[in-house]
Amino acid sequence: MSGEHIESGWLTCGACHQSYEIVRRVPRFVSRDNYGNSFGWQWQAHARTQYDSHTGGTISEERFFKETGWPRDLRGATVLEVGCGSGRFTELVARTGALLVSIDISAAVDVNQALNGANNNIVFAQCDLNRLPFRRHCFDRVFCFGVLQHTPNVEAAFRALLAMPRPGGHVVADVYARQPWYKHLVNTKYWVRPLTRRMSAERLHRWVSRYITLMWPATKVISRCPLGRRIALGLLICDYRGRFELDDDQLRDWAILDSFDMLSSAYDQPQSIETVRRWVAEGGLHDAQVQYGYNGIEIRACVPSL
Ligand SMILES: C[S@@+](CC[C@H](N)C(=O)[O-])C[C@H]1O[C@@H](n2cnc3c(N)ncnc32)[C@H](O)[C@@H]1O
Repeated sequence: MSGEHIESGWLTCGACHQSYEIVRRVPRFVSRDNYGNSFGWQWQAHARTQYDSHTGGTISEERFFKETGWPRDLRGATVLEVGCGSGRFTELVARTGALLVSIDISAAVDVNQALNGANNNIVFAQCDLNRLPFRRHCFDRVFCFGVLQHTPNVEAAFRALLAMPRPGGHVVADVYARQPWYKHLVNTKYWVRPLTRRMSAERLHRWVSRYITLMWPATKVISRCPLGRRIALGLLICDYRGRFELDDDQLRDWAILDSFDMLSSAYDQPQSIETVRRWVAEGGLHDAQVQYGYNGIEIRACVPSL
C-alpha cells in the first residue's frame, strides 16, 4: 500500500475466486503480451504529445466535448473510458469531477496511470474491452475514441460497449469510416501495412521518425498545394499543418505519432455508415446520432431504460 493505492498484490473475485495481479497500482486482466503491444510502445514514446496541457491548446478538449456533447460538470456520475491510450482525454474527464474508470488492453494504461494517477477520482485497469471485468450496465456514461477499428471484431467490440452503460445511460464511440473501394485501393497505408504491422514497434518507429524528419521540409511545400494534406497522406505522413494550431516541433511529433499509429496497429478495419447504423438499430439504442465526424463515424446514443 502507498497512501490510498495498492502498489502490488492480487485482486481476487469473491464469486469465482479467480485472482488478478496488481502491478504498479494497476490490476491486470490480460496477459502482458497481446495484440495491443505496439500501442503500448507508441504511447510510451509519445506520452504527452496530444495532451492539451502539453501543447498549450484545446485540441483534445474541443474534440471531447464536441464529440460527446456531455456537460463539463459530471460530479456524481460514473464514466468508463475504453482504450484510454496515454490519457489525453482522461485528464479532461478527471476535471469534470466524475468518478472515472480508465482502461486499455496495452501498457498505455501505465503511461496514463503515471500521468493522471494523482487524481483520486480515477481508477485504472489493463483489460480487453471484449471481456470487461465490470458488472453489466453499471456506468452512467461510456466513451471509446479511436479504438473500435483496431479490434479483431469491430461489431463484437461495439456490442461489448453497449453492455456497460446503465439503463438510460450514455454511450459515445467512433470508428474509421470505410471509403468507397476505388479510394480504399489508392490508400497507400493499406499497401504497406502487411509489412509494417509485422515489424517490431521500436524499429518501425525509428524508420518513421527518420523518414518524417527527412521529408519535413518537403511536406511544408506540399502543404501549400491544393490537396496538400492528401498528398502527404499518400506519402504516409499525417500532416496537420493548417488544421491544428501547433508549433513546428509539435506538428512533426504529431505526424510521427499518427503515421506510426496507422502503420503499426495489428488491426485497421474501417466500417461503412450503413453498417454502423444497423448495429445501432439492432442494439435498440435511443436518441441515436450516427454521423461523420472528427475521426470517421461518430455514434452518440442512450441505452434503453428498463
Ligand atoms: C489509437 S489509440 C486511442 C487512444 C485514446 N483513446 C485517444 O484517442 O487518444 C487506441 C487504443 O485502444 C487500445 N485498444 C485496442 N484494442 C483494445 C481492446 N480490445 N480493449 C481495450 N483497449 C484496446 C490500444 O491499446 C490503444 O491504446
